[in-house]
Amino acid sequence: MRVLITGARGRLGSALLAQLAGKNHALTGIDIQELDVTNFNATRDLIKEIAPEMIIHAAAWTDVDGCAKEPDRAIVQNGFGAGHVAQAAAAINARVIYISSNEVFDGKLSRPYREYDITNPVNPYGYSKWVGEQMVREASPRHQIVRTSWLFAHGGKNFIQSILRAAAEGKPLKVVTDEVASPTYTDDLAAALTQLVDIERCGTYHLVNQGCCSRYEFARYVLDNAGFNHVAIEPILSASWQRASTPPPFSPLENLAGTVVGITLRSWQDAVAAFLDREGLLRS
Ligand SMILES: NC(=O)c1ccc[n+]([C@@H]2O[C@H](COP(=O)([O-])OP(=O)(O)OC[C@H]3O[C@@H](n4cnc5c(N)ncnc54)[C@H](OP(=O)(O)O)[C@@H]3O)[C@@H](O)[C@H]2O)c1
Repeated sequence: MRVLITGARGRLGSALLAQLAGKNHALTGIDIQELDVTNFNATRDLIKEIAPEMIIHAAAWTDVDGCAKEPDRAIVQNGFGAGHVAQAAAAINARVIYISSNEVFDGKLSRPYREYDITNPVNPYGYSKWVGEQMVREASPRHQIVRTSWLFAHGGKNFIQSILRAAAEGKPLKVVTDEVASPTYTDDLAAALTQLVDIERCGTYHLVNQGCCSRYEFARYVLDNAGFNHVAIEPILSASWQRASTPPPFSPLENLAGTVVGITLRSWQDAVAAFLDREGLLRS
């Protein structure tokens, strides 16, 4: 299949390119240097020229605090940008996979969110991703909306590396206990998306590593498995951590739709161990 990936230099996009390269697809990866998806005409023209049968739209402005400071820019970049890609896909009858986020939910439920639970974003990043979902749904029935959360990737900036760097430098660690979600390894998500490319069933999916934890538990698990068991973390509440964006407090995702078509991801603990192992950091 001819597959186009946007955000190809990003954390997920680069993992996707690497994994899809091993399959029988003709791949094109583009990023903001080749196309700014906020430009509708340029998006329509370039997608028409590349003529993919499938587009995975992974590009986004992922700086959640930046989005909180410039909410209109977030809507244009993440919301309208996704709409432009989906409309350009529909014009050439290509299927589109839009990567969305756990932050479309308000985090007030007491169980993990299922695909068709009611969305209610509580911050500008979540709202912009939600606008993207609406625009993708409006543009074409040939869509798959894939929500994911707390990505960790090789190479890019991420929570695991920040925690390990601080521990190695002997810096005091304070991590919140009242933000809970599903940490997800980009390699596992990319493998799941590679499966989804071959499945025409449209709709909304939650693709995350199984289970959930607080940021504090996530950090503790990383340190314990990377030889830093002796390093203490001070548990704190998010109210004492000043930041521009307010995340949903409890936004684990449950993968029901993917399971129905045979797509399941391993536990987040196994995924973190695999990540550390590949980085040469696993000590157990
Ligand atoms: N990271 C997470 O924890 C997380 C969690 C849930 C969902 N997601 C979603 O998963 C997807 C992939 O995330 P990621 O972490 O791989 O993101 P990433 O590493 O930030 O990569 C996104 C890429 O998109 C590019 N981009 C930004 N605005 C663009 C525009 N207007 N036109 C074209 N390209 C543009 C970025 O370029 P610049 O770097 O130059 O801006 C970057 O190369 C995103 O849709 C994100 O919303 C991520």
